[in-house]
Parts: sequence; structure tokens; C-alpha cells
Amino acid sequence: MEAGLRLKALSMGICLAFGLGAMAVAAHADDVIATADSPDHALSVKVMVNGEGRLSYEVDRKGAVVIAPSRLGFLLANARELDGHFSLDSQETAAHDDTWEQPWGERRFVRDHYNELRVRVVQKAFDNRKMTVVFRLFDDGVGFRYEFPDQPQLKNVKILSELTEFAVADPATAWWNIGGGWDQLEYLYQKTPLDQVAQANTPMTVKTDKGVYIAFHEAALIDYASMWLRREDGQRLKAQLVPSSVGPAVDRDAPFATPWRTMIITTQAADLYNSNIELNLNAPNALGDVSWVRPSKYVGVWWEMHLGKSTWSSGPTHGANTANVEKYMDFAARNGFRGVLVEGWNKGWDGEWNGSGADFSFTEAYPDFDMAALSAYGLKKGVHLIGHAETGGNMAHYESQMDASFQQDVRYGIDSVKTGYVTDAGTDRMQDADGRIFYGYSDSQAGSRHYLRNVIDAAKYHIAIDSHEPIKDTGLRRTYPNWVSREGARGEEYNAWGSPPNPPDHVANLVFTRMLSGPFDYTPGVLSLQGHNQSIKGTQAKELALYVVLYSPVQMAADLPENYARYPGPFQFIKDVPVDWDQTICLNGEPGDFATIVRKDRRSDDWYLGAVTNGDARSLTVKLDFLDAKKTYTAEIYHDGEGAGDEGDARFRIAIAKQKVTAADTLTLKMAPGGGEAIRFVAMEADTHR
Ligand code: NOJ
Ligand code: CA
Repeated sequence: MEAGLRLKALSMGICLAFGLGAMAVAAHADDVIATADSPDHALSVKVMVNGEGRLSYEVDRKGAVVIAPSRLGFLLANARELDGHFSLDSQETAAHDDTWEQPWGERRFVRDHYNELRVRVVQKAFDNRKMTVVFRLFDDGVGFRYEFPDQPQLKNVKILSELTEFAVADPATAWWNIGGGWDQLEYLYQKTPLDQVAQANTPMTVKTDKGVYIAFHEAALIDYASMWLRREDGQRLKAQLVPSSVGPAVDRDAPFATPWRTMIITTQAADLYNSNIELNLNAPNALGDVSWVRPSKYVGVWWEMHLGKSTWSSGPTHGANTANVEKYMDFAARNGFRGVLVEGWNKGWDGEWNGSGADFSFTEAYPDFDMAALSAYGLKKGVHLIGHAETGGNMAHYESQMDASFQQDVRYGIDSVKTGYVTDAGTDRMQDADGRIFYGYSDSQAGSRHYLRNVIDAAKYHIAIDSHEPIKDTGLRRTYPNWVSREGARGEEYNAWGSPPNPPDHVANLVFTRMLSGPFDYTPGVLSLQGHNQSIKGTQAKELALYVVLYSPVQMAADLPENYARYPGPFQFIKDVPVDWDQTICLNGEPGDFATIVRKDRRSDDWYLGAVTNGDARSLTVKLDFLDAKKTYTAEIYHDGEGAGDEGDARFRIAIAKQKVTAADTLTLKMAPGGGEAIRFVAMEADTHR
């Protein structure tokens, strides 16, 4: 039989055999087995099976193909492939619309509105093995994942390769950074044609020549390998699972589900940022009452080490000495910061800790650091020590002391801990359930287990975790709200010693890539704009804008206390800006160019605005219609002054102005090259302007 005819007969056979009367099957397309639309019908997904029984999917937007037919399936190490020989077993659709509340976050209420399509497929030729692909279609994007049911034919699943593809249909430009490079997630972003991407981290964002933005990422990465995106050919990307050094990339017992593969699909870059898909595709809070997680700002014995003024290691310039920490605690108490981070307090920093970590004690302090006295000193002033656990990538060593260290934290009133995993990609030291040591990627399946174990263990002690050199964020803060923040990108530390330091377009890149995954502990606020023998390439106003633009429920005021004393004007904004929000709106932006974000404080009626530009001067007109129409506000505006720019003294040209505004007004933001703007809108009494 000729191929086309044979296919037609096959699909008719499927229809008859499975009685798919109620199902939406395209009449003409002989291999479409299921379809679904988003609630507003703009997005639709088709699931197909070809002549060999290979599974694929396609995503359309308003009738135009956005993701061309792309493969689904797996190669397994312990069984025949989950690829080919598939036919439809059954399918069902469901609609969902509810609103849930975040204990803390960039918005208080989150609407979760989608249509779900469950496609159950069976491999009759392989023992009737079954697999389900679940799609969720939101108005602003699509998520899908695989479910492995409990079945005697496939109890243990060893995944060698996930065959998932994303074939972008129209020519596109990509904003991406290297996936799988030695420096983990801390790479600069590149803007290239999509067909020049090699292997990228997610989130990765593309814009097609039809003006459609697609941000690729994953959600709910639990006990599974992270996904890099490897370009196969043209604009076809493949889910490249982070390898394991001791076996297949993923080893799980069924039943289980993979992480969601996500695509935010919009026609405005700002709406990529406004999407809630990432959180909505995670399970609800598993910890119950988390009022012990406290969004707050902190200072710390930190930037001075990155400047080379003091050391993590012991000796005459040891930063974590009691007197120095007291100085930071006094500064924190005077200026309303709740936390004081102290790095280098514990034994193990002498010698080569980076990539080894074997000498770290997570409970034993250097003799010049008096934990008991400092904790009491701080608590009298309402200031809490923040714990620090740098592991040097030695996860196994940390795990052996993790409980003891959390117990000690509780004794000293420490309710948040910053962790660190400084090592080259692929060299984290891990331990399996049988005690065997092996080395691997922090974003491998074993790595995903470690980071989550750390967070779940911490929750038992009511401790919040801020992971540096983390596994990527996939929205697990919804399920585990004590995972408050993380690094996972180039932060302020690169302005101290990075080569090159963060370029002026870095933040506008972050907003539309890394920030789509969740909070980032960038550690902003260096008003001195000075690193270790290099300058920060941006203005003071931009440094202030970072507090609004780069969301994190824990935000550092990273500069030295004496530097804040030199700049009391701009410092006022850092003191005022909250870290927990009722509402967030990205008003405008383009990846790598600019972004404006406004947020409403959770504890007052005040709004805040942050805007950043890249190396180009830029003027943006912003409508203030996000403000409460019944109120008048005093806008406290911190903007780039006359002659401001990203070099030399021009970086310090900041102007601070006050102006009465209402929701009916517009403001023009004038940003210098490398500049930004920060505004606090202080609400006055209701109805005062009427
Ligand atoms: C890298 C972290 O990003 C940084 O914040 C920290 O100071 C060092 N590791 C040392 O732990
Ligand atoms: Ca880092």
C-alpha cells in the first residue's frame, strides 16, 4: 500500500478501535490523535502519531504554527525505547480556573487558568506499555510533561535520553547563555539567530520574525535531570538531560512524572515576565504555615571580601571577627535591615576549599568569631545572623553535617541560611543511598535531590534557604516556600572581580531570561560603583532600580557601611524599598535593551518602579494607571542626572526629586547610557485630589 493511504487507513483504524466520538480529531490530518485549545482559544496543541507510531506535538497561535511538529519520547537503558509503536489508548480534557495565594512573592494572588489534555498512549508491540503526555494550555503559554504509570512491564525507568524537541517554526533571534559550561549558570547572555545556538541553559527566550516571543524552560524539577536545550539542526532544539556520572541521566521507579516542559508564548516581551505559568505548574505549598519565612533585607560581611579588603580565611585580615560583625549589626539596626550575613565564620576556609570543601565544618567557628555573643548582641537590636554554608561543591560532606548545623542555627536564632557550591560544573561530590561517593553535575538528577533535601531538611527547623551556585529555579518555591531565593546567574560579585564585569545590557537580559524562573539573590546596592580594581559599568540610579527590577524576597544592601554613609540620598531608597509585594507588572521592555517593572508593597499602599536600560540612553513614557485612581501619591524619583553615563564620575550623577502624581498622569523616564530609574510612590490620604 502506498504510504499516504496506509497512514489514512491506520488513523481510521485508531478512530474505530478506540471509539473517539467525543474527541476533537482533525478530519483531514490522518495522524492527529488529540488536540486542545487555551481558554481564550489563541493557542492550540495537536498531538500526532506517525506511520511508525512515533509521537509528536505541534503548537499553533491564532492558527499559525509556532512550534512545528516536534518529537516526544524516550530512550531507556533497561527496556525498549518509548519511541515508535505508539497508538492512542485514551484521552481526556479538563478545564481549570482558580486563584491561589502566595505566602510571599511578587504578587499575592495568582490565577491558574488552563485547559488540560491528557493523552494516554500504548505500545502494543512492547508488552502494552503505557505512557501519558499531559498538556496544560494557558492563554500565555503551554506546559507538558510525561507521566509514567505504575505498570508491571516498566517498574523501573532508566532514561538515557529524553527525545522531546522544540522546533521553532519561524526564523527567530535567541537570547541565551551556555548550558553545560564549566561555570555552571554564571554566563553572560548572547543574542544570536536561533540557528546559531549551540547548547543553552533555560530559560532561553526567542523572538520570531513574526513578532512572537517564546521563553523555554521547565517547571517542578524534582528528582530528575535538568534540561539543557541542544540545537539539533536549523531551529530544532532538543531536551538534553544533564548526564549522570554513574548511570543513565534519570533512574526512577514508576509511578512518577517528569518536570513540565514550558513555553511562555506572547507578543509583548513584558508579558513573558507577567506570566505565572512557572508557579502554576508547581504543586501547592507542602509546608503549611510558613509565617516563619520572613522576606527581608540584609547586609553582611561579604562585599569587603570580594574587594580583597578582608578574607574568608583566618589570619590578620579575617573578615568574620566579632568586632567587625558587631559593626555591621549596628549598621543594620540603625538602618532597618533584619539580617546580617557573615561569610568565613566557620573553619575550613584556609587552603584550597574551592572544588574540595572537605575541610569545612558547618558548626565550628574560627576563634575570633563568637557566635553566641554575636547572636545575643544582634537579637537585642532586632538583627538576626544569617547562616552561611559554603560547600565548595562537596554536597556529601555538607549532608553529613546538615542536621547538626541547622540545630546550631536554631540555638542561635538563625532562621535563614545562604549556601554555596563553588566548583566547576560536573565536579560536585555526592553520595548515593548506599554511601558510595561519586562526582557529578549540580543540575543532574542527584544534584536535584541534594538541593531539595537541603530545603526540606531546613524546613523542619523553620529555616529559609538561599542557594548560591544552585540548581536552576523551576518554581519549587510554591511547594517549598522556605526556598526563598538563589543565585544561578551572574550577580553583583562579577562587578567585583569578573572578567569582564557585568556589561550594561546584563540586567535587561536577565529580566527576560533568568528572572522568568524565579527570585535572584543578585546582591545589589553597590553605590560606590567600585569593584576590586574595576568599575561597575552603570549609574547609581540603575543600582537602585535593581531592587525593583530583580525580584527577590531577600535583598542585600551589599556595599560597605562607610560607602552608604557617603551617599545618604540614594541610600534612602534602599532603606525604603520593600521586598514583598501585593502586585507586580512589567510595563515594557525588550530583552537586552530595557525593562520597566512596577510593584505594590504588601504592607502599605505604596508602589515602586524600577527601570533599566542597556548601554544606550533611553526615554520611556510610562502611564501611571496602575496606581489607585482614588489616591494621590508623592513620587520620590531617583533618576540619572544631567550628564550621567556608565563611565567615571558620570555614574554618580543622580538627581532626586519629589512630585505629586495620580493614576491619570504619565511620567517620562530619561535614562543615561547604562542608567536606570527608581521611584517610590508614597500614597497620601484617600480622595485628597478630588
Ligand atoms: C560564591 C557566592 O556567589 C558568593 O556570594 C560567596 O561570597 C562565595 N561563593 C563564597 O561562598
Ligand atoms: Ca556565584
